[in-house]
Amino acid sequence: MKEKIQEQFKQRFGTDGVVYASAGRINLIGEHTDYNGGFVFPGAIDKYIMAVININGTDKVRVYSMDMDAYCEFGLKEEDAPQEQWARYIFGVCREIIKRGGTVNGFDTVFAGNVPLGAGLSSSAALESCFAFALNDLFNENKIDKFELAKIGQSTEHNYCGVNCGIMDQFASVFGKKDCLMRLDCRSLEHAYFPFHPEGYKLVLLNSKIKHELVDSPYNKRRESCERVAATLGLDTLRDASYTMLADVRDKVSDEDYRRARFVIGEKQRVLDVCDALERGDYETVGRCMYETHDGLSRDYEVSCEELDYLNDVARECGVTGSRIMGGGFGGCTINLVKEDRYDNFIATAKEKFNAKYGHEPEVINVIISDGAHKVID
Ligand code: GLA
Repeated sequence: MKEKIQEQFKQRFGTDGVVYASAGRINLIGEHTDYNGGFVFPGAIDKYIMAVININGTDKVRVYSMDMDAYCEFGLKEEDAPQEQWARYIFGVCREIIKRGGTVNGFDTVFAGNVPLGAGLSSSAALESCFAFALNDLFNENKIDKFELAKIGQSTEHNYCGVNCGIMDQFASVFGKKDCLMRLDCRSLEHAYFPFHPEGYKLVLLNSKIKHELVDSPYNKRRESCERVAATLGLDTLRDASYTMLADVRDKVSDEDYRRARFVIGEKQRVLDVCDALERGDYETVGRCMYETHDGLSRDYEVSCEELDYLNDVARECGVTGSRIMGGGFGGCTINLVKEDRYDNFIATAKEKFNAKYGHEPEVINVIISDGAHKVID
């Protein structure tokens, strides 16, 4: 990918540039807990967005996306926001740096990636983190700390892309470390690296390649439900909520909001249980928690879909240790923890059955837990 974007950059802009990359992510457990002040357990993966960048001495950004074969040019003032959604991710990062008192001047860039789009692997966070990291290096002497870089990506989603996401994806993309998952407390931002070598198991993603286009921003609606319940409980977030507290306000909240909060309360605890289980090498408990998360995301949080529920059923039938929908939901991947001796049968069965029912095979994505945002040096 590096040679490809460098060659394209030279052709378009006639110079060389510096190469940066940032990663997509998986999340072993802890879904929809980040914006509730809870815990998440992600890791960066060996799928990247990579960009060549060169300062151009003007007040314009000129950007070419190789994957989309699309070009865009924009200025750096708020009123210069481009129409193209893909370019708004980069514009947003520039603006968020400037708003925080940082510097961004004109630059040329070509970027490409191999993070599958719409699969729940956070290609947009990888894009934001790549540019946040790069612009910090090129214009700000790396004075912006890594948490602020993650927050710059998150604010880009909020202010320029209409998604009120939590901090997990950008955190994972910036802080990722090879072979390690990270437990992040999304309230205090305290985090710990957990070496992840599940002896005798494989971690594999099955991409349904389904992305349900939902018109009414259901992600933001989930967040609003949680905030309503927290407010009813007199709390800032659901972080400190318990099942007992929720039961006490049962008739003050809608049934839907009640179920959303019930999921979040269970999920917060599951992250901690999974971390403990991993320290004991107890993968059966890890797997059981993953199935519980899937059930909760499907029934209470209602962010799964028929195709992902089907992949989850097939995993159960094949004796897969743990399986669940991963990411924001409404399509994308399942993440599966499977014993090595069951792997081949699981993959073959899932492909065959899914194809028979939905007319295409799920894509098998093997991931390696990798480093997050970095400068790519030869
Ligand atoms: C998306 C968001 C994250 C997080 C997950 C669900 O990926 O960007 O902040 O809320 O959904 O866990």
